[in-house]
Amino acid sequence: MTRWLITGAGGVLGRELQDVLRDRRAETVALTRRDLDLTDGRAVRAAVRRHQPSVLVNCAAWTDFHSAEEREAEALRINGAAVGALARACADASVRLVHVSTDYVFDGTARRPYAEDAPVRPLSAYGRTKLVGERAAAGLVAAGGAAIVRTAWLYSRHGTDFVRAMARVERAGGRAEAVDDEWGQPTWAADAARQIVALARTGAAGVFHATSGGAASRRDLAGEVFRLLGADPGRVAPMPADRFPGAHLRPRYTVLGHAAWARAGLAPIQHWRAALEAAFPHLDLDA
Ligand SMILES: NC(=O)c1ccc[n+]([C@@H]2O[C@H](COP(=O)([O-])OP(=O)(O)OC[C@H]3O[C@@H](n4cnc5c(N)ncnc54)[C@H](OP(=O)(O)O)[C@@H]3O)[C@@H](O)[C@H]2O)c1
Repeated sequence: MTRWLITGAGGVLGRELQDVLRDRRAETVALTRRDLDLTDGRAVRAAVRRHQPSVLVNCAAWTDFHSAEEREAEALRINGAAVGALARACADASVRLVHVSTDYVFDGTARRPYAEDAPVRPLSAYGRTKLVGERAAAGLVAAGGAAIVRTAWLYSRHGTDFVRAMARVERAGGRAEAVDDEWGQPTWAADAARQIVALARTGAAGVFHATSGGAASRRDLAGEVFRLLGADPGRVAPMPADRFPGAHLRPRYTVLGHAAWARAGLAPIQHWRAALEAAFPHLDLDA
């Protein structure tokens, strides 16, 4: 039986993974930052030895995009150096590592979906630090012992996100504004979590993109939220991305390709519209 260890288990994806594994009655140890600080290499090695998982899924990260610009060295410790220590601990204990990364490793200048092996060029400190993490796990990936799973634009019943924010605006009867010149793949965190579990079970190594199919702007996504709430999507007005400070640090187009799933014998995640509709009753939008 597979034994799972989740690091960064208190975050959005970590909690979704716990939900998925609980539903499947899988043997799971879930460690939040308070249980295990990933930057403490000795504690990481001890945790891997103590729990002896078959699979370790690393959901821990410095995810605050803006503060990473100011405090890149600190973000780098978690998103970069700690991943190297984690990969070494996993390699030494023959533990399969699934390390979660981001679409922000790309620069957004493409006009067709980024393949898993497309050249990377992060624009932001967050993206740069996450890329260092990918590279720190690359040796174990090459040795067949790890997978890097990039995800993006997550929404969930846990935490706060764009979908919840738009639902609140609609419920308050307001008009929304949403960016219509930035493209990505809104992804239900539960879909990403299920995909990670399925991938780990195959034992496949490599780089994978756990994002929904299709492509959307924030305005498309907000419009769909309004529609699913029975409201007029026309209440969402378009807005250019450069209205936000630091817009040049955000890639404009991070639609990701999904070819690698077939190599692992898995289907990619469903289209973002179908996913949002399926997710809607589970998002506790009244909470
Ligand atoms: N959410 C998205 O849309 C999105 C998009 C692209 C990629 N991703 C990637 O998906 C992964 C999961 O993200 P998420 O959305 O679940 O982020 P999240 O909700 O911010 O969760 C990250 C977790 O990591 C923990 N953490 C931070 N520093 C740590 C440390 N030194 N040791 C142990 N734990 C630490 C945080 O704990 P504290 O809260 O206590 O600090 C938090 O619980 C990350 O790799 C992220 O880069 C997410």
